[in-house]
Amino acid sequence: MKDMTDATVRPEVTGFFDPATNTISYVVKDPGSSACAIVDSVMDIDYAAGRITYDHADEIIAFVREHGLNVEWLIETHVHADHLSAAPYIQGKLGGKLGIGRNITVVQDTFGKVFNEGTEFQRDGSQFDRLFDDGDTYQVGGMTCRAIHTPGHTPACMTHVMGDAAFVGDTLFMPDGGSARADFPGGDAGELYDSIQKVLALPDETRLFMCHDYGPNGRDIRWETTVAEEKAHNIHVGGGKTREEFVRFRTERDAQLAMPRLIIPSLQVNMRGGALPPADESGRRFLKVPLNGL
Ligand SMILES: [Fe+2]
Repeated sequence: MKDMTDATVRPEVTGFFDPATNTISYVVKDPGSSACAIVDSVMDIDYAAGRITYDHADEIIAFVREHGLNVEWLIETHVHADHLSAAPYIQGKLGGKLGIGRNITVVQDTFGKVFNEGTEFQRDGSQFDRLFDDGDTYQVGGMTCRAIHTPGHTPACMTHVMGDAAFVGDTLFMPDGGSARADFPGGDAGELYDSIQKVLALPDETRLFMCHDYGPNGRDIRWETTVAEEKAHNIHVGGGKTREEFVRFRTERDAQLAMPRLIIPSLQVNMRGGALPPADESGRRFLKVPLNGL
């Protein structure tokens, strides 16, 4: 595949950490213009109270306005299971096109069934403006960006390369955090290993930006590393760990993990591109809880 991206382009990357879900959202600015992309935004939910708010997204919106940026893309690296996307909310305020991996349709089919959605829930990805295939490119101002299909955590996961920066979603964590789980429906530890190799095949000095950090062993939250650092030190795949070693480790670890706290609301909203479920005749909206369905 021809790589149209240019690693000499250095976008300005600003991370916004959400302490409620340990997610990092990014504003990525083309160095040559006021164009930007927003990667993996977060909508706040108090699940116990059933209350949706937008403090985290509003912080990003304020930043974009303050710096006079023009949002060209809202990128979801995947269908997140641990936080709700605020992409449509931000799109309503700032514009931009919403993009995700082509295999969103697989995820929609799986969870459309889990949540017993009717035929009004389209499983064709039409909630998004663009479905990326492996190797697809798009522009943020003068900067050519490229989506790389990196499944394993979920079937629709993509890594987005923008200049010398790559947004890996949940394909990798910081070197001392390792990797994300691969046991959700459609996940696969072997595929995740292969996808991680694709990320590690980028130039050594590529800046890598994580979607999550949990501050392992009490260290401060961090979200930026490099391909060289991950190759040398990642506790799950660094130092030349084999596929077999990784699959064995990942499978054993995943069997012990509890479901993410917000998986039920997250999937229902994120499979709709961040839109809330449709309102009933009285205008109220509800989330479902499938019993023994996950
Ligand atoms: Fe995830």
